[in-house]
Amino acid sequence: MKVDVLLGLQWGDEGKGKIVDVLTPKYDVIARFQGGPNAGHTLEFDGIKHVLHTIPSGIFRSNVMNVVGNGVVIDPVILKKEIDALVKLNVDVNKRMVISKKAHLILPTHRLLDAASEASKGKEKIGSTLKGIGPTYMDKTGRNGLRIGDIFETNFKDKYNALVEKHKQILKFHEFDYNLSELEPAFFEGIDLIKTLTVIDSEHYLNNAIKNNKTILAEGAQGTLLDVDFGSYPFVTSSNTTTAGTCTGLGVAPNKIGDVFGIFKAYCTRVGSGPFPTELEDETGDLLRKAGHEFGSTTGRPRRCGWIDLPALKYAIMINGVTKLIMMKADVLDAFDTIKICTHYKIDGEIIDYMPYDIVSKKVEPIYVEMKGWKTDLTKLASINQLPTELNQYIEYLEQELNVPISMVSVGPDRTQTLMRDKVLA
Ligand code: GDP
Ligand code: IMO
Ligand code: MG
Repeated sequence: MKVDVLLGLQWGDEGKGKIVDVLTPKYDVIARFQGGPNAGHTLEFDGIKHVLHTIPSGIFRSNVMNVVGNGVVIDPVILKKEIDALVKLNVDVNKRMVISKKAHLILPTHRLLDAASEASKGKEKIGSTLKGIGPTYMDKTGRNGLRIGDIFETNFKDKYNALVEKHKQILKFHEFDYNLSELEPAFFEGIDLIKTLTVIDSEHYLNNAIKNNKTILAEGAQGTLLDVDFGSYPFVTSSNTTTAGTCTGLGVAPNKIGDVFGIFKAYCTRVGSGPFPTELEDETGDLLRKAGHEFGSTTGRPRRCGWIDLPALKYAIMINGVTKLIMMKADVLDAFDTIKICTHYKIDGEIIDYMPYDIVSKKVEPIYVEMKGWKTDLTKLASINQLPTELNQYIEYLEQELNVPISMVSVGPDRTQTLMRDKVLA
């Protein structure tokens, strides 16, 4: 079978964790392909909320294998915390999860370097989650990094010390104060735990699974507009969050990619710095934040909120080859009289309907159409046939503009609050 992909089309936090969990019963394998603990994927069921950072969102379902792919960067400290929390809930993580030998390690000094780099940027800072993501991917591409496979070598400690020495030089340059000896014990405890897990050549595992007709869903982290190549550079993360990242992050060939599920909120959010054309820095933005509980799952920071942005969504659909759309958090718009949709940008007096090269230094004025709100509580709806007319109009308008069908509509954080428009996914 081909590998289906689920990824975010906006600036992250679209609700990937929830939908991966909803779709997991249809798959044999769930595989994370990039990012690291900068991600916070929330799942809610049976009245409990879970936030995953490194572990794929299929972990709560039995009979499914979760793969942490080579494209992921792993902080042993955070992974241990995640595993400890799951074990307390009687989830047999070791039976349900395998980790790629080629995934790179986030060292305590990578986190320090992230903090030092952000501090040195001052007002220009990226608004990083400070989890060490950028410095770890820099060491990967700079060919200095340590990989999970290295921890089994007798000279691991020497390799670790050599890399830490390099990092200390950079921290000295930044005149950054730190106490590494406070951070190292937890790191090595995490390393000891990883040694007890199932560490594999995940590219072989996944390609064998493809050969054996297993169904596989690749789970993205962050969102397309945070992609290091196609996002709002330099206000991006350090990995390819797009479909192409699935190929490099799992070792899956492009001709083995099946459906691409593109997930987006019925409005838009962003956390951290960087351009956001439809941002609402007013009462309406506050209403969205309140109704959507828009506070970061990883850092707790308030998320910036705004209306849906079609030029950005069209761009994300194009880059990813999206075949099915999933609209999230429709219920957050329940109380609005009118809802705005950005169809074009005005830049330098010119009106365009696509994502241009530069939205960082240019002033981008969003041009909106307005639609009537549905003023209905969607959270209790049991079937797609009960959607209010105005919401159906909103959905049909988006489908027409985006030229891809909307297969699911999410109307609340719980697993059960998911309405299927596509029978194959029901
Ligand atoms: P992810 O990073 O893409 O997995 O998304 P996050 O978990 O960071 O953020 C999504 C937030 O929205 C979480 O708190 C979810 O519980 C919540 N959520 C997901 N879908 C819905 C929905 O349809 N309605 C509402 N109100 N909340 C949702
Ligand atoms: P999930 O998977 C939202 C943002 C940060 C910052 C920028 C760079 O939960 O959707 P980094 O720590 O990667 O150096 O930060 O990217 N960012 C996210 N925003 N959701 C995420 O992940 C994010 N991961 C990183 O806020 O602006
Ligand atoms: Mg998140």
